[in-house]
Amino acid sequence: MDTWLAVASKRDWRSYADRPVPEDVQQRILDAGRLSGSSVNKQPWLFVVVESDDAKERIAEVVYAGENIRTCAFAVAIATDGGKYPFDVGRALQNMFLTAWNEGVVSCPNGVKDAEAAVRELGLDEGRLPVNIPSFGYPKRPQDPETRSAEEWSAEANRKPLDELVRRV
Ligand SMILES: Cc1cc2nc3c(=O)[nH]c(=O)nc-3n(C[C@H](O)[C@H](O)[C@H](O)COP(=O)(O)O)c2cc1C
Repeated sequence: MDTWLAVASKRDWRSYADRPVPEDVQQRILDAGRLSGSSVNKQPWLFVVVESDDAKERIAEVVYAGENIRTCAFAVAIATDGGKYPFDVGRALQNMFLTAWNEGVVSCPNGVKDAEAAVRELGLDEGRLPVNIPSFGYPKRPQDPETRSAEEWSAEANRKPLDELVRRV
């Protein structure tokens, strides 16, 4: 998929088909996270894949929108020392989202409401905290971003207009 089309058409999805995402697709999504740039190339992240029904049920209890985790094919907790480096994590997250979208896999970020319980349920070492736990899965009906142009996706997006957001000096 063209990168501009991928960016323009990517939406966050909270409803997933009840079918797994193949291992090779999961690998590409995780590798997109690994490949992300980070400040001084520190690569501060650990990616914890949440895939069993039992793990999903337990992690659903520690995020704000439990259904996202309960119904997804898999989720990936991105943990850093003390939950720091949110900028780096954001870059990894979006790379993973766009790589997933290129494979027809939809996704949503998930904020953590109970960090202490999340650390316990994810089996994280002392001092590590999950910054976000994005959920991934196939949509209930396959989506084809190519049905519209990137410009059409952009025009329809629920976003502030560009001229409200851009200043030039
Ligand atoms: C840091 C961050 C945390 C978010 N946390 C949640 C969340 O806990 N639950 C949820 O359903 N969506 C969450 N979202 C998704 C936002 O609601 C979403 O990006 C926004 O509404 C735009 O959605 P759209 O791209 O589908 O228009 C989060 C997004 C970000 C960037």
